Amino acid sequence: MEGSPIHILGIETSCDETAAAVIRNDLLLSNCVASQELIHRYFGGVVPELASRAHQQKIIPVVEEAIIRANITKNDLDGIAFTRGPGLMGALLVGVSFAKSFALSLDIPMMEVNHLEGHVLAHFIRRETEGNLWKSPTFPFLCLTVSGGHTQIILVSDPLQMEILGETQDDAAGEAFDKAAKILGFPYPGGPFIDKLAANGNPDSFAFPHPQMPGYEFSFSGLKTSFLNFIHSNVNRDADFIDRHKADICASLQYRIVQILLEKLTRAAEEYKIKDIAIAGGVSANSGLRAALLMAGEKMGWNVFIPPIEFCTDNAAMIAMAGYHKFVRGKFASQQITPLARMPIVTG
Ligand code: KG4
Ligand code: ZN
Repeated sequence: MEGSPIHILGIETSCDETAAAVIRNDLLLSNCVASQELIHRYFGGVVPELASRAHQQKIIPVVEEAIIRANITKNDLDGIAFTRGPGLMGALLVGVSFAKSFALSLDIPMMEVNHLEGHVLAHFIRRETEGNLWKSPTFPFLCLTVSGGHTQIILVSDPLQMEILGETQDDAAGEAFDKAAKILGFPYPGGPFIDKLAANGNPDSFAFPHPQMPGYEFSFSGLKTSFLNFIHSNVNRDADFIDRHKADICASLQYRIVQILLEKLTRAAEEYKIKDIAIAGGVSANSGLRAALLMAGEKMGWNVFIPPIEFCTDNAAMIAMAGYHKFVRGKFASQQITPLARMPIVTG
């Protein structure tokens, strides 16, 4: 990178993680996340009102920590990137309002970031420890973004040029994991519990349905209903059914979800003749998906890009990274900006 280095603070408060991070150009200096998992666990999902209150309490300490860990002072910051949406309105409001006042007080520009754009651009964050081994995808590439709220296949032509080829028409992949986990009695968020148990199960034990959706669209609500019926009818016959078959149930469900995702991704890679294939979002932490993608990559001759776990789930480093690209192109947000609960990916 030429010229003097650019320091960007990223702020993420779209759901239940209060996160702040600092990058110097594309190099990560700090990445701090205060999880609210325990606050919401009791209710079996994120409670929006509790999320905004927790963000309000945590935003200042988390930002302070990110600046200290980056070994800079607030006066070294060149810009502030924040998640404008999509997400929970009350949660977003905390991050957006904080970013606006902090940018105003430091007299530096701020950059709005779409949370999903952030997940995709997490692939460009460089970490000191990786040295020369670090590699990011080359454009154009395909990114399967799978999180608690979204399931999308995105054609990425440039850091700020993204086109959604297809997405879920109902539940997201993460929701499918979490709802199934709830049916099995696991705490929220249940995706990681299924992942862990699946490692010791046989994926061929139970056959769950594979939805037939047009193009690159996804649907997970049918799978959820069939899973619910499957569990109910088996538990009616045998009260210990879940306990006795936990690992096999998890392995079979995970196998099906991964199959659904990879089938469409493979078709998109063939149609668009793209060899650089990436995954992003919380579900990209899933070991079954990671392994299946590596195998598919080998078979299809893809260059596969799988983010480190800390960049899969919600974090602010990805927001800072997206903000950096906007900063260098002079794409700044105004002080009148408001959060958006629903926010399309803006291209260009
Ligand atoms: O991207 P993310 O942190 O938040 C949203 O933007 O939604 O994704 C959270 C989702 C949750 O549904 C969670 O269960 C899922 O990612 N998840 C996983 C795993 N780790 C997180 N799902 C399956 N296996 C995992 N290891
Ligand atoms: Zn996310």
